[in-house]
Amino acid sequence: MSYQTVIVLDFGGQYKELIARRVRECGVYSVILPGDVDLERIKSMAPIGIILTGGPDSVYREGAPRCDKALFDLGVPILGICYGLQLMVYSTGGTVSPCDVSEYGRTEMTVDTACVLFRGLAASQIGLMSHTDQVSVLPEGFRNAGSTDHCPNAAIANDDRRLYGVQFHPEVENTPNGTTMIHNFLYQVCGATGDYDMRDYEAVMIEQIRKQVGSEHVILGLSGGVDSSVCAALLAKAIPGQLHCIFVDHGLMRKNEGDEVEAAFSGRDLDFIRVNAEAHFLEKLKGVTDPEQKRKIIGAEFVRMFEAESAKLGDVKFLAQGTIYPDVIESGAWNSATIKSHHNVGGLPDDIRFTGLVEPLRGLFKDEVRALGRQLGLPKAFVERQPFPGPGLAVRVIGEITKEKLDMLRDADAIFREEMAKASAVADQYFAVLTDTKSVGVIGDFRTYGYTVALRAVRTTDFMTCTPADLGFDLLTRVASRIPNEVKGISRVVYDITGKPPGTIEWE
Ligand code: XMP
Repeated sequence: MSYQTVIVLDFGGQYKELIARRVRECGVYSVILPGDVDLERIKSMAPIGIILTGGPDSVYREGAPRCDKALFDLGVPILGICYGLQLMVYSTGGTVSPCDVSEYGRTEMTVDTACVLFRGLAASQIGLMSHTDQVSVLPEGFRNAGSTDHCPNAAIANDDRRLYGVQFHPEVENTPNGTTMIHNFLYQVCGATGDYDMRDYEAVMIEQIRKQVGSEHVILGLSGGVDSSVCAALLAKAIPGQLHCIFVDHGLMRKNEGDEVEAAFSGRDLDFIRVNAEAHFLEKLKGVTDPEQKRKIIGAEFVRMFEAESAKLGDVKFLAQGTIYPDVIESGAWNSATIKSHHNVGGLPDDIRFTGLVEPLRGLFKDEVRALGRQLGLPKAFVERQPFPGPGLAVRVIGEITKEKLDMLRDADAIFREEMAKASAVADQYFAVLTDTKSVGVIGDFRTYGYTVALRAVRTTDFMTCTPADLGFDLLTRVASRIPNEVKGISRVVYDITGKPPGTIEWE
């Protein structure tokens, strides 16, 4: 792919993906690299611009994320954001000092409308601030381009060297005109032409897949999740008749989900193989209560079933996977500890017999994968799905798993989802958990003794941390009244208000 590219250099800030996505939304391809990446690698990619992310550190601290100072002499336009601005100033001869008054949140600013970043905007702007250090002395050749009451250098510019910096975060929604500022940087400074577009991406990927695969056949493990589903739809279009999707239905899916997955792929030019393995998985999980043990058993059995099924297909050379960009972003030495280590149940062993790996979504963010899915005609409900763990409901039935408990949970979860949809409630992930605690209840004149269901609904952007979603009492009480009335065996409903940390999103 030869799109114009902007490199986002990561200095540990939480918004690096957001910056890269904003750039792509402006029609410019972007990649994220660790801030300390070798300059030769940057040069070899011939970027039209570079953006330095924020980060929680202070530039003067020993061990703080740094970059090669020669970065600023490459002649490539650079925009430094927050810590990125401070690093630019520190590296080019200016001074950064602790703030007298730290600024957090939406802050009024006055910007210089003659500065290219703010072209077309009013002088009075709002910017999201979050800093305890700030620029106190500008490096030679730079001029001030914006300020707040407490931050004299909220924006700086060096037009000759095409270096710009902002103390606020233009990538977030709390900076209302932030996207215009990024757009100005891309189009007025970097010379972007806007050659990146999802519609073209599809065509480019189809051509690449055809070139890689030729007339060979491809196997894909389809889980029903967004990534593998979009991957399947794309491959079916690229290489009709050459794709075999193996859908191992482990019986741990949500209500009707297995059939929905099958229905979404009927009518596409692919070989859909559904392995109904519920009884097999339940047998293997009998008596198992330890969460890690459950995951291990499901992972191992999944691979076994996948291999057995794929062996029946004979000599298939290629394996496709729905790997997406956030799965492969490299991180710098200073923040490697935050790498996510989830082992997906679809993860296959390294020694698997295939000679080639097809990963057409490797360059895309989740929202781009969803857009591509819509473009390929997948049902809306499908592409907008919330994440679902590979081990499925096995980690949402606490303690031993039985068919009876799974069915109870499926019904309770379906009620919760139905009410969430009716109320248009906002949460990034939500589901029911069947705890192993029984309690006494009463329905009509009868005493009951049934299980407790916990409802979980969270707000998160990266799933690494979360806060409980405020669903309001009306919705919660409606769900709490329906579940014990409609699902036999459940007598009590509680709402989980634990954040992450200290809790995880799933219970097991
Ligand atoms: P936790 O529970 O660790 O979950 O806070 C974070 C996100 O990951 C999902 N999750 C999984 N996804 N395989 C997956 O593909 C797994 O084994 C797995 N366990 C948790 C979880 O639903 C949440 O979105």
